[in-house]
Amino acid sequence: MTAARVMARADELATHSAWADGILRAYLTPEQSRVNAIAAAWMREAGLRAWPDAAANVCGRRLADDDDRPALLLGSHLDTVPGAGRYDGILGVLVAIEVADRLRDADLPFALEVVAFGDEEGTRFGATLLGSRALAGGWQESWLDLHDVDGVSLRDAATSFGLVPERIASAARPAGSVLGYLECHIEQGPRLEALDRALGVVTTIAAAERRMISFRGEARHAATPWELRHDALLGASQAIVAIERIAQEQGSPATVGRIRVEPDAVNVIPGFAEFSLDLRDGTATGRDATWGLIRHELQRIAVERGLDLEVTSTHAAPEAPCAPGLRAAIAAGIRATGDADPVELVSIAGHDAMAVADLTEIGMLFVRCAGGISHHADESVREDDVAAAIDAFEAAVLALADQHRS
Ligand code: GLV
Ligand code: MN
Ligand code: MN
Repeated sequence: MTAARVMARADELATHSAWADGILRAYLTPEQSRVNAIAAAWMREAGLRAWPDAAANVCGRRLADDDDRPALLLGSHLDTVPGAGRYDGILGVLVAIEVADRLRDADLPFALEVVAFGDEEGTRFGATLLGSRALAGGWQESWLDLHDVDGVSLRDAATSFGLVPERIASAARPAGSVLGYLECHIEQGPRLEALDRALGVVTTIAAAERRMISFRGEARHAATPWELRHDALLGASQAIVAIERIAQEQGSPATVGRIRVEPDAVNVIPGFAEFSLDLRDGTATGRDATWGLIRHELQRIAVERGLDLEVTSTHAAPEAPCAPGLRAAIAAGIRATGDADPVELVSIAGHDAMAVADLTEIGMLFVRCAGGISHHADESVREDDVAAAIDAFEAAVLALADQHRS
């Protein structure tokens, strides 16, 4: 029953999108406002006292926990990338609500809370994990001056949403008020499916870094001879292919997902080209080594083509190891579903847990998704896997309760 409810709820949340066709739900938008209200109502149905925090995350605490005992947080995010599926982040929030519902009367040695984060993807303002970093105490006032593609500042978007921009940082939970964070998430990779397993234990979340890289050359008439050209787009193209080669050689996943050209006209040599780079690796040291090689190649291309190179970092996170005790609890949860030897995986994808790791210990449960497809409308999960995930997540909380009692 509960897995069917999760599937139906994921379908319902998918209807709240900025796009008529496809899912886009970004931070501080009317769509977020609607799903936040729905999530809060579901939390209340599950026996939680629900409230929006100062950063537009939705939080819920068991009614039974009306004291100031440190809380175990269960959570994930409700925002999406453009053209998203319906489970990335959302599944984790819905599973957390189901588990809270099941445990509403349980005698636990800690308080239990659910958190639905408002921004994990960084779709709108470039900087990422804004909701979870606010909760973890990492909010930066400078983010208020970030702008979306329409020129709306985060400050104005927050005000329109009903937040007080100067108070967003107060979403930070005091150290000691939280004793751990567990997140259930689709794998966003093909390994569980290849191993024929529904669930897995995350060992570490990979280090990540996002940059904007630009080449500036000279916009000239398309009749300009080759030897007089300084074509920024050709520099960017050469760079992007080199990034693929270097990243593959180093084993660091790298993605160029955005590119912008000026003046963007068919008969004008591009004078400016800017692209994004998302670079990941199991460790920050490995990531930085790969970036060093990429940077060297970008500089070589700039000199070769007579271009000016500029690099701006928009996000950097070290690898986030999951805590041994929470990993053990997740593994115990999976074993409770009949899988005697739970698979362990490194997460290449980023998660709210990376941000929450600055506040408290983290643990993650992965759920198989078909073909490893994610950040796409074809993202899908099996209902029986969702049922197993709810059982495992509940059992993980109970295993953690046992750890705390002993
Ligand atoms: C989030 O989905 C990320 O890994 O970038
Ligand atoms: Mn995502
Ligand atoms: Mn996610």
